[in-house]
Amino acid sequence: MISSLRSLLYLAVVLVILACIEAAAPTQIGNGYRLISVDKTSDGALIGHLQVNRKNNIYGPDIPLLHLYVKHETNDRLRVHITDAQHQRWEVPYNLLPRQQPPTPSKQTTQTSITSTEFAGNELIFTYTPNPFSFSITRKSNGETLFNSTPDGSNTYTSLVFKDQYLEISTQLPKTASLYGLGENTQPHGIKLYPNDPYTLWTTDQSAINLNMDLYGSHPVYMDVRNVGGEANVHGVLLLNSDGMDVVYRGTSLTYKVIGGVFDFYFFAGPSPLAVVDQYTQLVGRPAPMPYWSLGFHQCRWGYHNLSVVEDVVENYKKAEIPLDVIWNDDDHMDGHKDFTLNSKNYPHPKLINFLNKIHSRGMKYIVIIDPGIGVNSSYGTYQRGLANDVFIKYEGKPYLAQVWPGPVNFPDFLNPKTVTWWVDEIRRFHELVPVDGLWIDMNEASNFCSGLCSIPKGKQCPSGTGPGWICCLECKNITKTRWDEPPYKINASGTQVPIGYKTIATSAVHYNGVREYDAHSIYGFSQTIATHKGLQGLQGKRPFILTRSTFVGSGHYAAHWTGDNKGTWDDLKYSISTMLNFGIFGIPMVGSDICGFYPAPTEELCNRWIELGAFYPFSRDHANYYSPRQELYQWKSVAKSAKNALGMRYKLLPYLYTLTYEAHTTGAPIARPVFFSFPNIAKLYELSTQFLLGSSLMVSPVLDKHQTKISVMFPPGTWYNLFDLSRVVVAKETESFSMDAPLHVINVHLYQNTILPMQRGGLISKEAKTTPFTLIVTFPAGATEGEAKGKLYIDNDELPEMQLGNGQSSYVEFSAKAENGLVKVWSNVEEGKFAIEKGLVIEKVTVLGLTGVRGGVAVEVEGGAGGDVLTVELVETDHLFFDEMKVGKGSKK
Ligand code: NOJ
Repeated sequence: MISSLRSLLYLAVVLVILACIEAAAPTQIGNGYRLISVDKTSDGALIGHLQVNRKNNIYGPDIPLLHLYVKHETNDRLRVHITDAQHQRWEVPYNLLPRQQPPTPSKQTTQTSITSTEFAGNELIFTYTPNPFSFSITRKSNGETLFNSTPDGSNTYTSLVFKDQYLEISTQLPKTASLYGLGENTQPHGIKLYPNDPYTLWTTDQSAINLNMDLYGSHPVYMDVRNVGGEANVHGVLLLNSDGMDVVYRGTSLTYKVIGGVFDFYFFAGPSPLAVVDQYTQLVGRPAPMPYWSLGFHQCRWGYHNLSVVEDVVENYKKAEIPLDVIWNDDDHMDGHKDFTLNSKNYPHPKLINFLNKIHSRGMKYIVIIDPGIGVNSSYGTYQRGLANDVFIKYEGKPYLAQVWPGPVNFPDFLNPKTVTWWVDEIRRFHELVPVDGLWIDMNEASNFCSGLCSIPKGKQCPSGTGPGWICCLECKNITKTRWDEPPYKINASGTQVPIGYKTIATSAVHYNGVREYDAHSIYGFSQTIATHKGLQGLQGKRPFILTRSTFVGSGHYAAHWTGDNKGTWDDLKYSISTMLNFGIFGIPMVGSDICGFYPAPTEELCNRWIELGAFYPFSRDHANYYSPRQELYQWKSVAKSAKNALGMRYKLLPYLYTLTYEAHTTGAPIARPVFFSFPNIAKLYELSTQFLLGSSLMVSPVLDKHQTKISVMFPPGTWYNLFDLSRVVVAKETESFSMDAPLHVINVHLYQNTILPMQRGGLISKEAKTTPFTLIVTFPAGATEGEAKGKLYIDNDELPEMQLGNGQSSYVEFSAKAENGLVKVWSNVEEGKFAIEKGLVIEKVTVLGLTGVRGGVAVEVEGGAGGDVLTVELVETDHLFFDEMKVGKGSKK
């Protein structure tokens, strides 16, 4: 009896222990793979085959045989591609991004001709462990492991899993790694990825006020900063995959849980933040050239009910003397919310044309919205032509029916070349009717007010537009639930309670060539962007301007982005900085948020602070919701004052901003950057999300909380000059915070030492500002007797699609200054100077800051650089400011 009790007890203990082990271990969704062959191709790639170790069926059966392809593609890029060796799988189409296709996988396994498990070729070394298969990427120069897919023994993740609808791989991370990227996501914790915050990538029409949720874009790329002993090395990792995914970041590991496609990893060696973005955009496409006027201020709102309202807005800006370059229409100009149409009553064609002629003659521009949903309406030409050309996404052989603003809609399939041709033609037709200067593509995640499949009930008229039209009026039939509608693993898109097809195109709907919405969902907006770019590029041979809500890897090559529907709250003001900085890392540097908030109404104080910050967004636009009260900047006297001040400065900085767009276009460098981009070794700056840099040396430090008249600003070591009052200077010995004055109309913007900043006189429209004389602000460390400063200037004819040197329509100037022996010299090295000379550009003033003890003051000489074209510089006046004469900034040290 006792012995049987004892055995029962023993059994119970064993069961409890087993249960505990079970609870601690991750669900065994895969048993890993083993490398069964490895070989080197003639072009220097490594090719291998992986065979599954013991199959299991969680989230579907494992794919038995995988094909591995590893290639050092450039000096600083390594690609690791893993796919099914026996069946072709969905991949982001090769024609969408400028990249190389790996060789077609084959089942043929070759025995190893490589004896080492290490595969070197550039700064990044690929090393594998054969069984269970895992790989790591190490940096050659310091031996640091950058990526390591071997489970770390913590039981929180497993080794490689590869099923039809579930792929998983992880990397170990050191505690010291600082990660950035993975979006689009409103990150309440700032720019640095925050352990255990969810990062779900699936393009979704979800208001940006939802924190930590999948938003409009999908960017499976991160930048990783490793600071060892005060010295940082930075690398980047892209998983090029358009399927939905959860990325789980635990601080010491990162796991990708992807519901389709392949593993197509690209590792970028850096080692600086700018080098990573350079290498990344070299692969995915350099940021699009932007027209000069797009750097001006933009006014928009949903609910400009008729043309007179728009005319008034333009006049009021003029009266208030607030700069304005671009006026926008949301869908108010449309007839029944249908793309490419005009409401004949509220926006009569002849009057609209008169208005456009008038604003165009002043150099102002006009942009309208278009949505992808095409109204199903037998008397609507765009729809009829689309139907005739068979351009729509299909469900069970018929165009997939959804509901957006026009009521029932079909969605064009931009992966179909015929659709692109039709769309380009629709843009051309519309442009002939209304000569718009750019297009705004919205709701392209794609947003659908219904989920599932809709049908129009007999005899029922579907409402369109705002108000009741928001609710799906169509009958949403329960679709036959396929594995595409209800995949075995549910990503956290819109939360786990709803299917992935929630309020978008049914994921079992079909695109061109049988591609499923399931796989192509997150490139919908991207494919529309490319088609729209094609449409605009062909028109009058001008440089296109497109603003898109939904983005994917590579969207920056074609378009600008705004951060979607934010709230008029102080929190949203703060979040706008992190999202903007993330988009710089994503290669979409032309970005901004709705200034003063989309909805609900901002307070007057908030709107003051928002325009002070928004004046320094790369893309600066005030936009509001249909139901919000009017919030143009002239609506409040105090806001108008802040706007004149901040936008006044922006318009003086336009040559600098434009030069930054050139830099972005040629090297990927973000226009707005985290402060650590210029100071990568200073770990204190890695989380700084309340300040940012424009270019390498102009620091913007806005007020982000109510009732503040002083703010704490962190300054990296060196001398910083207040751009609004150059006599006010902050000298930071180390990275330290200073309390700075910030009364209501004041935004702190500081220029760093050793910089030459080209500015112009400014104006109310960029076209005018562009022709005014230049000033150069030359900065040295406070009290310096010698030193150097540098700056750049790019100018061109921005009516041309290209942004480049060598076509006789552009000039590039490198300014240098050197102080030595009591003399400072400023000179320029000019490439292609003819254009600048023809334009008659002059520098009227050179302001030199920071030098002291220079014999007899500062002499400024301006001369042509050796060997380069000489830019004619007329120095009308010199204005020498000496450190001795300056009031040391009112900011007192904390
Ligand atoms: C949603 C966009 O995010 C918003 O900016 C726009 O005003 C509305 N759609 C209406 O077009």
